[in-house]
Formats: sequence, structure tokens, C-alpha cells
Amino acid sequence: MNDLYEKNGYTISTDKSKLDLRVIHDFLRNSYWAQNIPYETVVRAIENSLCFGLYQANKQLGFARVATDYCRIAYVMDVFILEPYRHRGLSKWLMECILAHPPLQEVRGWMLATQDAHGLYAQFGFTPLEKPEKYMQKRIPAPYGV
Ligand SMILES: CC(C)(COP(=O)(O)OP(=O)(O)OC[C@H]1O[C@@H](n2cnc3c(N)ncnc32)[C@H](O)[C@@H]1OP(=O)(O)O)[C@@H](O)C(=O)NCCC(=O)NCCS
Repeated sequence: MNDLYEKNGYTISTDKSKLDLRVIHDFLRNSYWAQNIPYETVVRAIENSLCFGLYQANKQLGFARVATDYCRIAYVMDVFILEPYRHRGLSKWLMECILAHPPLQEVRGWMLATQDAHGLYAQFGFTPLEKPEKYMQKRIPAPYGV
């Protein structure tokens, strides 16, 4: 099921067929967290995630991707709003829609990583790890750099 949220002429949709893959790839390959990511990798990640596109008259202005099992864990990634459309509350509305999305209401563990947008996510209840000593990570450098 693809859901649609509407506000002030903007829409947020989980319909992957609406996504402008070129816009998303273009943003991500220049981002600090996915620099030089190949187009095919972005497509594969999108195919295997719950995706939220933000649009004005079908033009893609923003995006977020959630890797989830729909019950225990949801990992929010690749959140962006294109530069000309920032400071209008759009990322806050995007996060609001993601967190209120009916298929995600059983999720008990939300995670994300950010370099500097803690103040955005804090407004939605995200905090630094309560017990960082319990968490582990394994990183394998991507062949394209990050
Ligand atoms: C971060 C980003 C998504 C914010 O989008 P936006 O639509 O301009 O943000 P909004 O207008 O919804 O407001 C964001 C809120 O978070 C706060 N905030 C905290 N850290 C922030 C940051 N690093 N960048 C932007 N806003 C930030 C803002 O002050 C604002 O709160 P306020 O309205 O209470 O003052 C956008 O700047 C962006 O795409 N940046 C580049 C990609 C990126 O860094 N993505 C996040 C990766 S975790």
C-alpha cells in the first residue's frame, strides 16, 4: 500500500514509482555520508527499503529512506531536502509523517546517524545512545570511498 500525505501544496508519498532516481542519486553522491555512491547502489537500496519522497507538483524536493522489519527496528537514512526548499519546515514534516506512518507503529527501536542535524531529530524524541557500551558496529569501507 502506498500512502500519501498532503500539506500546503506539498505531498509525501511512499510510492517508489514516483521517485526521481536521478535527483536522489545526484544528491547522495555529493553528500558527506554517501559520497560517490554509484547509481546502481542507490537503486538497490531504494528497492529494499521503505522510501518517502517529498514533492511539489510531482517535482521531487526531498527524500528519506527507512530500513525496517516493521516491528522491532527502523533505521532512518538518506534524509535530505534540496537546498532551495530548506528552512520551510519540510524535513520536520517528513520526519513527522515517517514516525506516524501506520505500518511503522509497532516499531520499538528507531535509529539513525547524523553529523550535525541532532537538533532536528531531537524534536522527534531521538536522543544520543543511552548505553553506547551495549552497541557495536562493523564498518567495511565502500569501494567508492566512504
Ligand atoms: C537537514 C535538512 C534535512 C533540514 O531540512 P529543512 O527542511 O531545511 O529543515 P526544517 O525547515 O524542517 O527545520 C529543521 C529543524 O531542525 C533544526 N536543525 C538542527 N540541526 C540542523 C541541521 N544540521 N540542518 C538543518 N536543520 C537543523 C533546525 O533548527 C530546525 O528546527 P527549528 O525549526 O525548530 O528551528 C537539510 O538541511 C538537508 O537536506 N541538509 C543536507 C543533508 C543532511 O544533512 N541531511 C541530514 C542527514 S542526517
